[in-house]
Amino acid sequence: MPTRIALDHYVYEDIYPAYKAATDEKELTAKINRAFLNALAKSRLVLTGDDPLAVADIGCGPCDTLIRYLAEVTFAPGFEVRATDFLPAYADSENGEALRLLSEAKAAGALKLSGFSTRAGDAFAGSLLPLLSGPDDGGRMRGAFRIVFASHVIYHAQDSAAVQRFIADVADNLLAQDGVCVMYHVGYAKGTFQEFRARFGSRAESNRESNTGAVTIDDPPARIAAACESLRLPFWDAKFISDLWFGKLSDEHWEHFKVPDRYDSLARSDPAAYEDLKRLYFVVQRAPKEFAADHSATGLPRFLDEIRSAIEFHGNNLPATERMQIFCRDDAPARLREGIERAIGTVTQLQS
Ligand SMILES: C[S@@+](CC[C@H](N)C(=O)[O-])C[C@H]1O[C@@H](n2cnc3c(N)ncnc32)[C@H](O)[C@@H]1O
Repeated sequence: MPTRIALDHYVYEDIYPAYKAATDEKELTAKINRAFLNALAKSRLVLTGDDPLAVADIGCGPCDTLIRYLAEVTFAPGFEVRATDFLPAYADSENGEALRLLSEAKAAGALKLSGFSTRAGDAFAGSLLPLLSGPDDGGRMRGAFRIVFASHVIYHAQDSAAVQRFIADVADNLLAQDGVCVMYHVGYAKGTFQEFRARFGSRAESNRESNTGAVTIDDPPARIAAACESLRLPFWDAKFISDLWFGKLSDEHWEHFKVPDRYDSLARSDPAAYEDLKRLYFVVQRAPKEFAADHSATGLPRFLDEIRSAIEFHGNNLPATERMQIFCRDDAPARLREGIERAIGTVTQLQS
C-alpha cells in the first residue's frame, strides 16, 4: 500500500520519495559533484591532508543524496560528516533516518566515514554551527568544514534576507579558509518545474499548511548569486537540466486529480498514477484541500490544466533548469580560486 497523501496538510516526507523515484536529478548531481570534487583533489585542493575531511550537509533529508555525493569521491582518510535538516524524521540526533542511512553506508563500506552526527533545526535562523556540531565537538567545527553542501534547500528560505543570512553564516562560521560551499538548485525558466512552483506555490501565499513551511523563493539561484555578490564572496556557477518523468495519464486521471476526496480510491485502483499525483504536489507543496478550495488563478484546477500541457508537450516529462553554484571565503587563497575555475570547467564539459 503506498504512503497516503494527507489532505489537510502537506507532509513533506510522505511526498518527497515519489519525486526522487522519477527524476534524474540525483544521478546528475552525483555525477557533477564527482567530477568537480575529484578535479579539485587532482589539483591538491580542498581534499588534502591525512585527516578525515569535515563535511557539512544542510537540508540533508535522509542523507541518501550526501551518501551518493561522497561515495563517488576518492579521499583515502575518509569523511567526518555533520548533517542538519528541519524535519526530525530525517535529522533527529538519536532517531533520524539520516543517522540510520549513514551508519548503514559505513557498515556496508559504501562510504569511508570516520564519524557522523545529525541535528534537526532551522537552517535559516543564523545559527548553523550548533546544528552542525556533534555532542563532543565543543567549538572545534568552527571554520573547519572543507566542504559544505546545500543541496536543494534554499527553496525554504523565507525571503532574500534569509538567503543572505544563510550564505553569511556558512562563510563566517562553517567554511575553512580552503573550503568550498557546493549548492544545487532549480532556477526559474518558463514552462519548466520552477515556473509552476513559483506561480502555484510561492506566489499563492496560502501554503502555510506545509510541515516545512512554504516554498517561497521563486528563483533560488538568482537569490544566491545576489547574496554572494553583496557579501563579496568569490562565486561560480554551472547550468544543467534535469527531467521529472510521469506515466501516461488519461483525461480521467487528470479529472480525478482535481478532487482530493477521490485520492484514496485512486491509491487503491491505480498506485502508479497516485505516485504521479504526489509528484505534482511536490511541485507546489500545498495541502490538497486548501489547494482545491482555491478557485483563483493559483488554485488546483488551473494548476492541473496548465502543468498537464507542459508535461505532455515534453513527452510526459517536466524539465527543470538547474544550477550548481560554488562559493568560498573572501580570504580563500588564489590557488583555490584558480582551481575552482578549472574544476567548474570539467562540470561544464559534462553538459556539452
Ligand atoms: C528537496 S530536499 C533536499 C534533500 C537533499 N539535500 C537532496 O539534495 O536530495 C529539501 C530538504 O530541505 C529541508 N528543509 C526545509 N526547510 C528547512 C529549513 N528551514 N532548515 C533546514 N532544512 C529545511 C526539507 O525537510 C528537506 O529535507
